[in-house]
Amino acid sequence: ANGDAEKGEKVFKKCKACHQVGEGAKNRVGPILNGIVGKAAGSDEEFKYSDALAEKAAEGLVWDEASLTEFLAKPKNFIKGTKMSFAGLRKDDDIENLIAYLATFE
Ligand code: HEM
Repeated sequence: ANGDAEKGEKVFKKCKACHQVGEGAKNRVGPILNGIVGKAAGSDEEFKYSDALAEKAAEGLVWDEASLTEFLAKPKNFIKGTKMSFAGLRKDDDIENLIAYLATFE
């Protein structure tokens, strides 16, 4: 984990249309992302996930640095049928920095 959380905060602007983090964060189009690094996928009790994501979760997917990197590069390749409408991040640095930023929220 060598990402720069400050740079990652800027990358997170691309996620903000659908996701919140931090104190008082709420589920919106997408689930709250507090504590997401190291968390079991699909585990927000109140969020209604797609069947595709729920299936991955049932298989035991955990959001660690490796799985997040793959997912965020091309969400629809990593989880076919996900309802996350986001093309993905092209730059590895952006992904690394973004994960460092997300890791600052418990
Ligand atoms: C799900 C991250 C952009 C909508 C997720 C999950 C992660 C994530 C980690 C899985 C959460 C879990 O298992 O609890 C991100 C990041 C983004 C981003 C870091 C920016 C780079 C977006 C955007 C939208 C969106 C722009 C809306 C257009 C959703 C939805 C889900 C989801 C609807 C649930 C997917 C499903 O159930 O198949 N996101 N997301 N996300 N995200 Fe995003």
